[in-house]
Amino acid sequence: MRGHKGKIAVITGAAAGIGQAYAQRLAQEGCDIVAADISAATETGKLVEAEGRKFLSCICDVSSQDSVLKLAEDVERTFGRCDILVNNAGIYPRKKFLEMTYEDWRRVMSVNLDAAFFTCRAFVPGMKERGWGRIVNMSSSTFATVVPDYAHYIASKGGIVGFTRALATEMGPFGITVNAIAPSLTRSQGTLSQTPRAGANSMDAEFENLARRQSIPRPEVPEDLVGALAFLTSDDAAFITAQTLYVDGGFVRV
Ligand SMILES: NC(=O)c1ccc[n+]([C@@H]2O[C@H](COP(=O)([O-])OP(=O)(O)OC[C@H]3O[C@@H](n4cnc5c(N)ncnc54)[C@H](O)[C@@H]3O)[C@@H](O)[C@H]2O)c1
Repeated sequence: MRGHKGKIAVITGAAAGIGQAYAQRLAQEGCDIVAADISAATETGKLVEAEGRKFLSCICDVSSQDSVLKLAEDVERTFGRCDILVNNAGIYPRKKFLEMTYEDWRRVMSVNLDAAFFTCRAFVPGMKERGWGRIVNMSSSTFATVVPDYAHYIASKGGIVGFTRALATEMGPFGITVNAIAPSLTRSQGTLSQTPRAGANSMDAEFENLARRQSIPRPEVPEDLVGALAFLTSDDAAFITAQTLYVDGGFVRV
């Protein structure tokens, strides 16, 4: 795809799961990669360097503005800029609404939604100055389907759709596109460590149950998402902005 060579991509939550697959794919496209994660992204670093690209692992809690400002300083010092920002870090602790505390609500909102505000405030000014930028935020098919025990999570992922549209409007004149990707239930470190829902005796069974409701009836894996990210961050997608792309085997129809 056109436009990735030599670009600097900052990917949050890139130590594992979908973020790690994103880092590997953008490295294959020719980007140098910054992983911003609360955990050291050692494995991701190996994958990126195997593609011959530079890699920086920043320990960063994206729910803290101070931590994101420190990330921005590290990126500036090492690479001088951020061209592509992928807001991927996210948490999805299941909780029934009637048991949900304000602390539960705020925690999910801060990691899944406030973080996108912090990273965009930090990196968008430089993109605007240079007249080129790509931002991809992670939403979720749960925003468009019937999923219980996720009021905070679904609200945060709906917030991401709104933020994506609003920022796209303001940044369109400056060569910056802002889009979202919405996966279905995807095999990752995070989902594989969850407790299966009633009716499924293992997470594997839960993946299979959900896959049967998709047009393409097999469980989604992180590699299913990387092509969409590569496209949305390329020059080929320069006229596509404010969109939420459901990459979910044909589960949600919009
Ligand atoms: N896996 C799915 O089924 C699925 C479906 C729809 C949307 N998503 C979204 O995709 C994104 C990635 O999901 P995943 O399944 O790969 O998750 P995961 O739990 O496998 O990995 C998430 C990564 O984010 C990091 N992280 C968590 N909190 C952080 C914080 N405060 N600051 C920085 N890093 C932090 C973790 O350390 C981890 O490396 C999330 O935004 C999630 O909501 C996932």
